Formats: sequence, structure tokens, C-alpha cells
Amino acid sequence: MARVFICTTCNRYDPPAAGEDAPGLQLARAMKRAAAANGSTVAVRMVECLNTCPQPCAATLREPGKIVIRFGQLGLDDAPALLAAAETYARTANGEIAESAMPERLRRKVTGLVTLGVPEAASV
Ligand code: FES
Repeated sequence: MARVFICTTCNRYDPPAAGEDAPGLQLARAMKRAAAANGSTVAVRMVECLNTCPQPCAATLREPGKIVIRFGQLGLDDAPALLAAAETYARTANGEIAESAMPERLRRKVTGLVTLGVPEAASV
């Protein structure tokens, strides 16, 4: 099963007005809706802070034994692309996604890769 972690506390530096949901929480809900609408097996996990606070909203693709891919500057419109990236990530052996396989709108929103301890494998 693929999992995508969404920070529900973004934007930490510009909190929502009273009674409004944080943009990160809105993104997480949009991801859940997109996953349900597409019959996706991607599980959307809501977390508080992914250490990408200066570049809200943030999400991470992470699985044991795979490269961690962190995204920032995400908006609600990125939900379908992020879901597609999570599905691609799930099919990889080590989490490596070739640039050509990454949804175009997300290519400039990758804010970090953690490869420590991940064995080499061919990307999708
Ligand atoms: S508050 Fe969202 S990454 Fe820190």
C-alpha cells in the first residue's frame, strides 16, 4: 500500500482565520477525496509538520526501504498530481521516480530527497 503524508498544520506562518481550516488540512481532505474518487489504494495520512514549514503546504512520500520524497509549495490544485505521484512511487522498488514519470506540476515542488540506506534500483 502506498502512503502519502500531508501536513495539516501548514501554513504555520500564516494561520487561518478563526473558523477556517488550515490550507494543509484542506489539501489532506482534497487528497482523500481524490483517492476515493479514483478508487486509489493510496492511503492519505494526516500529520502535524513535515519540517517544510517555510514552503507550505507540505507532503511526503515515504515507505520503509525507499527514498523519501518531500514536496512543498503545494496547493489544492496539486491533489490529483500528488495522488498520481504516490501511485507511481508505490510501484517503484526503491522510491526513485524519474523526472519524466513525475507529474510536471510537481517537478519544481520537490524540496528534499532522503536516500540514506536505500539500495540502488532502477526507477520507474
Ligand atoms: S507546519 Fe507544515 S511542514 Fe511544518
